Amino acid sequence: MFSVNHSWDVSKLSEESAIIELARLAKEIKKHDVLYYRDNAPQVTDAEYDRLRQLDLAIGARFPHLVLPHSPSQRVGVTIQDTFKKIVHEIPMLSLDNAFNDDNVFNFLARMKRFLSFSESKQLVIVAEPKIDGLSLALRYEKGNLVSAATRGDGIIGEDVTMNARTISDIPEHLEGNNVPDIFEVRGEVYIGKADFKKLNELMGEEGKPGYVNPRNTASGSLRQLDWSITARRPLKFFAYAWGVHTSLPKMSQYEMVHLFSDWGFKISPFLKLCYTAEDLIEHYRYLAKKRAKIDYDIDGIVYKVDDLWLQNRLGFASRSPRWAIAHKFSAERAITTLTDIEIQVSRTGALSPIARLMPITVGGVVVSNATLHNEDYISGIDSDGERIRGGRDLRIGDSVTIYRAGDVIPKIMDVDLSKRSQDSLVYNFPNTCPACGSPAVREINAKTGKLNSIRRCTGGLICPAQAIGKIKHFVSRNAFNIDGFGDRQVEALFKWQLIENSADLFTLEEKDKVSLTPLKNREGFGDLSVSNLFSSIRSAKKINLHRFIFALGIRYIGDRNAKLLAQQYRTLEALLETVRDASTFHGDAWETLLSIDGLGEIAAFTLVQFFNELYNSQLIERLVHAIDIHPVETFDNKDTASLLGKTLVFTGSFKKMTRHEAKAMAEKVGGTVSESVSLKTDLVVAGFRAGSKLKKAKKLAIDIIDERKWFQLLGQE
Ligand code: IVH
Repeated sequence: MFSVNHSWDVSKLSEESAIIELARLAKEIKKHDVLYYRDNAPQVTDAEYDRLRQLDLAIGARFPHLVLPHSPSQRVGVTIQDTFKKIVHEIPMLSLDNAFNDDNVFNFLARMKRFLSFSESKQLVIVAEPKIDGLSLALRYEKGNLVSAATRGDGIIGEDVTMNARTISDIPEHLEGNNVPDIFEVRGEVYIGKADFKKLNELMGEEGKPGYVNPRNTASGSLRQLDWSITARRPLKFFAYAWGVHTSLPKMSQYEMVHLFSDWGFKISPFLKLCYTAEDLIEHYRYLAKKRAKIDYDIDGIVYKVDDLWLQNRLGFASRSPRWAIAHKFSAERAITTLTDIEIQVSRTGALSPIARLMPITVGGVVVSNATLHNEDYISGIDSDGERIRGGRDLRIGDSVTIYRAGDVIPKIMDVDLSKRSQDSLVYNFPNTCPACGSPAVREINAKTGKLNSIRRCTGGLICPAQAIGKIKHFVSRNAFNIDGFGDRQVEALFKWQLIENSADLFTLEEKDKVSLTPLKNREGFGDLSVSNLFSSIRSAKKINLHRFIFALGIRYIGDRNAKLLAQQYRTLEALLETVRDASTFHGDAWETLLSIDGLGEIAAFTLVQFFNELYNSQLIERLVHAIDIHPVETFDNKDTASLLGKTLVFTGSFKKMTRHEAKAMAEKVGGTVSESVSLKTDLVVAGFRAGSKLKKAKKLAIDIIDERKWFQLLGQE
């Protein structure tokens, strides 16, 4: 250990020396912080370290105007901040489109060439880079000095993690070299290596603490610590691969820019490759897919980026991702674990859904402890007639199972290893009563096949609390009322405290809470801020489109698709209510018109009429209608471009004043998404001359249709 020299008097220090000394101390203290907290290898004793700190404080106290915002004296003794400040990204941090197979990659190349009016044979140089599985970070440098670091956040606003970023040794405080622009934001990925992660968990084990789940989550949790000294203890690393705001761009190629980052003092991926053909890309993909397990950090795919920055610029951005890049994802991952239990969840429609509880295991970077089991036949492997079913598993509690997950979907059980089945494995007896309300749970007869349905349902109806909770969860969910801050946990708590019994109660909650003896903000799990946010989300959810409202009711067989069909057909709730009322006898004109809706189906129509004619439901709807404001379905005839935001458009036929690519770019510029085919998700069809089957289908689905002239009018260009 070396000793620290501090044997001089601060009161005699000149201002010039103080500047030099403060800078030296800042560097020295940071070095020892990293050695101590992160590497677990201190080079000075605690007393010597304290003396460095005291010296820094003493000089800072004498020359307060010299104390820099990130000086060590600003970090000692101060109480830890309770939230991160926010940083607005001057250039949003977008995500990437995904390719899941080779065809998607070929299409990506073809799409870009079409957009650029390149012939198919013209070369488009692409850089292939590994997609590192960490979290992205934006580092702002002014005159070559690090001034701020922000997480991605929602892409527009991130969290200010500047102090935390300064503890990462891969992140330079100052950029090296002469040609550094005045302002330059370097973007890249913070991650934890596999070996470091293993070490970290071994350490946790020695201390008797539970291990961390996976490197990505740990990296994210580590960077986003309010106390930066915790961040300093974690083995975080950083790769630079992109940029944000800048006063100038020194190179005009992706490949050269990233190599420039290396000259500036950043680490860059060693697996960057310039590719000239689609085959080059696929070859590099396969090479890294094979090598992946041996690389010391997790990569979840390869990112392909157009190399020429002029071309990147021309290609621009679609709504949420650049047109000039795509992430070619590695295929779903598998893992072997143990089925520890089977639990039943009761859905809003009363279906008893079995859930596999698994020994937690990381699959594709995510910890998995549950998987879907579909239904009882799937578990037993035998159907209600006693016959073996294809895909059935004969699963027993205690079995060794292979699970897999693809993308964000719920993990599934792929296989069971019968050779590992132990004597103690337990056959699961599927319950025939509802675990939530005790009512009989039955398998209905399927009208079409005459066989028993594979789904067992609770017959408790309105008395079943699980169904009631499920209905409310559905009501507040994303495609329905989309009420922020109203997750499963909140719904369950409010139901348990009898503050809500059904969806209509949500809209009287705030008024009731004002006169409550135990207002929500004083209850466990809630606070001033969360309650006021919750109430304001409920208030703003009161304005809703008709199809979302119909979907939110949670009527069996009326999912998103059928809700849209009904909304398009009837346009107002009143019209729909009148029809279902008139159809209550299941014959006559009203019933016939319901049946004639293409795509709805008889069972859905039957359930719909039944639902609206039940007293409990019609009373609920009456209360809802009083509380909220349902938007009728509008036509596009007299609207402005704001109405295109988030809408899905289809262009069909030929146009006089625009190419298809231009049309697409125009639509995306005002926030629309362009799709190739007409479906119920389509909001508007722009039809040119010689429009054929797509136009026909749009008419059939009652989707709004406009011509080229109206399209330009809509954009205010005529
Ligand atoms: S480029 C405009 N390059 O992937 C897009 N992203 O899904 C800028 N990522 O948020 C991103 N490695 O966190 C890019 N070599 C790489 C990457 C990479 C990992 C992450 C990044 C981004 C996400 C996009």
